[in-house]
Amino acid sequence: MRAARFHAYGGAENLVVEQVPDPRPGPGEIRVRVAAAGVNPIDWKLRAGALRALIPVELPAVPGRDAVGTVDAVGDGVRGVGIGDRVFGLGGVTGASAELAVLSAWAHAPEAWTDAQAAGAGLASVTALRGLAALGPLAGRTLLVEGAAGGVGSAAVEIAVARGATVIGTAGERNRDFLASLGAVPTTYGPGLAQRLSALAPRGVDVVLDTAASGSLDDLVAITGDPTRVATVADHTRGQRLGTHVVNAENDSALLSAAADLGRRGRYTPRIERTYPLERIADAHTRAERGHTRGKTVILL
Ligand SMILES: NC(=O)c1ccc[n+]([C@@H]2O[C@H](COP(=O)([O-])OP(=O)(O)OC[C@H]3O[C@@H](n4cnc5c(N)ncnc54)[C@H](OP(=O)(O)O)[C@@H]3O)[C@@H](O)[C@H]2O)c1
Repeated sequence: MRAARFHAYGGAENLVVEQVPDPRPGPGEIRVRVAAAGVNPIDWKLRAGALRALIPVELPAVPGRDAVGTVDAVGDGVRGVGIGDRVFGLGGVTGASAELAVLSAWAHAPEAWTDAQAAGAGLASVTALRGLAALGPLAGRTLLVEGAAGGVGSAAVEIAVARGATVIGTAGERNRDFLASLGAVPTTYGPGLAQRLSALAPRGVDVVLDTAASGSLDDLVAITGDPTRVATVADHTRGQRLGTHVVNAENDSALLSAAADLGRRGRYTPRIERTYPLERIADAHTRAERGHTRGKTVILL
């Protein structure tokens, strides 16, 4: 099969598209013929070697954590999905930016979602759902999402709005209309956030989801006055020090199904800033690495 790979840790220029052996699904796994694969921060962090102590990968490695495609092989013990089904989901920390990818968590993709949208829903939706779950019931509460324009943040805004929260989202000025289109009250991140929030939410912010890793976690805890009302998916070190919820994604098919159900009801539509063909994956990584993706960057196979 054709796949993108990096043979050594380093910059995006290390990515090459080449022929590699087909992967095979193990027990409980499926293999999909990939239509599109998401680009997530973990892809370029792994490729750069920034996570090598925490998550060592075998080189050469195929980047990519999530994908959509049609099932072309199923492993032992797999139920509820058949050859030809269109599913989106998650594999290992690598492996998705290829013609064939093995998934260990998946859900049927809503018909209304394009391939790019379904690819963008994998890691972002499970991370958002787990982050929101840590904060308890959302109906009638005011939620602040720090980093609301990114992949995880934009998913969290739509899902929280669907669950009845009033959502305030932070982003750069250029994303004001984008946040409003997701259903959030937009504001900017950075100095003066607490003052801006007291005007936007005079009765206070009940809970906060941090998806930004921008160093603002101390301020976010001060805004709620209680670290247990704050969850971070992005700043594990500060979160542990402050006693916030620290949340990680999981390969959980039930969460992907919940995201797909919201998609079918028109309550969650992954936003795609830009797609790239596989041959231009280095450009996709370079762009995503700048840290200002609006929604998701996606590779089309
Ligand atoms: N724990 C887990 O399992 C897990 C899973 C997925 C992701 N993550 C982590 O969560 C973070 C977000 O992931 P993602 O996929 O959403 O990334 P992303 O799509 O690359 O996020 C980019 C967004 O961050 C916003 N941003 C940049 N600087 C900011 C700041 N100072 N304050 C607030 N927002 C800022 C940008 O908005 P503007 O362009 O408007 O500045 C942009 O929309 C990453 O650190 C990622 O590694 C963790």
